Amino acid sequence: MELKSASLDVTTKRTACVVIGVHEGRRLTESGKRADAAFDKLLSKVLRRGDMSGKAGESISVHAPPGIAIEQLVLVGMGPARKAPARDFRRASTAAAAALANIKANDASVYLLEADVDGRDLLWKTRTLSQAIHDKRYRYSGTKKPAAEKPGVAKGVSKVVMNAASKPDARVIDNGIVQANALAAGMTLARELGNLPGNICTPIYLASQARKLGKKYRSVSVKVLGEPEMKRLGMNTLLAVSAGSEQPARMVVAEYNGGSAKQRPVVLVGKGVTFDSGGISIKPAGTMDEMKFDMCGAASVLGTMVAVAEMALPINLVCIVPTTENLPSGSATKPGDVITSMSGKTVEILNTDAEGRLILCDALTYAERFNPDVIVDVATLTGACVIALGHVPTGLFSNDDELSDALLSAGEYTGDRAWRLPVWDEYGDQLKSNFADLANVGGRGGGAITAAYFLAQFAKEQRWAHLDIAGTAWHSGANKGSTGRPVPLLTEFVLHHKSRKQA
Ligand code: BES
Ligand code: MN
Ligand code: ZN
Repeated sequence: MELKSASLDVTTKRTACVVIGVHEGRRLTESGKRADAAFDKLLSKVLRRGDMSGKAGESISVHAPPGIAIEQLVLVGMGPARKAPARDFRRASTAAAAALANIKANDASVYLLEADVDGRDLLWKTRTLSQAIHDKRYRYSGTKKPAAEKPGVAKGVSKVVMNAASKPDARVIDNGIVQANALAAGMTLARELGNLPGNICTPIYLASQARKLGKKYRSVSVKVLGEPEMKRLGMNTLLAVSAGSEQPARMVVAEYNGGSAKQRPVVLVGKGVTFDSGGISIKPAGTMDEMKFDMCGAASVLGTMVAVAEMALPINLVCIVPTTENLPSGSATKPGDVITSMSGKTVEILNTDAEGRLILCDALTYAERFNPDVIVDVATLTGACVIALGHVPTGLFSNDDELSDALLSAGEYTGDRAWRLPVWDEYGDQLKSNFADLANVGGRGGGAITAAYFLAQFAKEQRWAHLDIAGTAWHSGANKGSTGRPVPLLTEFVLHHKSRKQA
């Protein structure tokens, strides 16, 4: 997808398709009025038919009659003309992007950035619109030819020009496009890895994909630990999860160095369970296929590294990906087994399906050696998080208010929202064990929180946050597929983060 700015008036620009906003009350935007005058009142005629009211998210596509300089017109509902809520612009962007992804035209001129959005500037509007366009353009290609590549199916536009009112505006838009393109590259990787089936996307495959990033970006170097090395390091809770699988586990360490050697890195840890059957505490068959998405945390931190490398940000970033399958077999870990983690804490594994925290706790301990400025782990960790928050926000847990606020506002800006839940000490009682320092599950109440509490015990000396993406990393049903979340949140966070210097 090629995105560009241009300052051509709607009446002189020649493109196959023009996208114009309509405000509530069927009122045309300024560009809309000019287009209407130039195109023989085509827009007024369409609006008078009454197919749209201008509510945010509506859209209609019309073929222009002969004799008019354009072939196709897409009208998009924008909501109120003044101080429209940010959410309305986001909806309008999604609607416009969906329309553009499904039409025959190859290029389009979009006149939506002139909208007046409450509390948001041109950069934000450009980012939001571009993100939506990239998002709708993504098509899974790993094991199936996308429908849009088959003959007779509209491919959607591949070139979009966004209208700039002035030279300075064009510079802002160009900057927004650069950021959005970088983000899209990261999200595409995250989605493609997430969507690949478990028989292809194994721990070895994930590691090889990470290695490829080290080859592609000079600023990225990648190291992969195998099981013998993990054993030497004492990563026994991680190895306890992989014990039942024929596929060997890996620990991927990808370092991006864009800052000075003195700057402490942001460390991202991503859960990379390439298939979670539950192990001996096996899951019901119903939607078990979706547990191929249990590596979406890993995919999102690697995707974030791509976005950061594409933007060449002046920071240091370390991505740590513990990756394994969770399967039952004669060699699998059993409920009641007690394992000594890399930190030295012992863990009683009461339920082998609570495996994410077992691989993450060793990764968090390993992360300490990078002297992190902050650590953020990302995991499809609990079904309980989906019960608590549904599929709208990611669950956020943290021992640091400043870090938590920065993550929340990065999510707000990018429309990849999170919501904070507590990690109070009181929850610790639920993880008491008679046979180990910690049990790996804490009963029915507050399951997302007790999982976070477990992780917090391995990050006590760190500014740490945990993102539970169980409800946001993928869609089920007819649209089954990875969302690429929370790459937007993470990338935006890193974009603004100022690290402390090494002690
Ligand atoms: N990967 C799952 C969490 C999950 C389940 C995410 C369903 C999205 C949809 C995780 O490893 C898991 O199985 N968690 C258990 C924890 C329980 C045993 C305490 C869960 O949520 O049921
Ligand atoms: Mn599980
Ligand atoms: Zn899992």
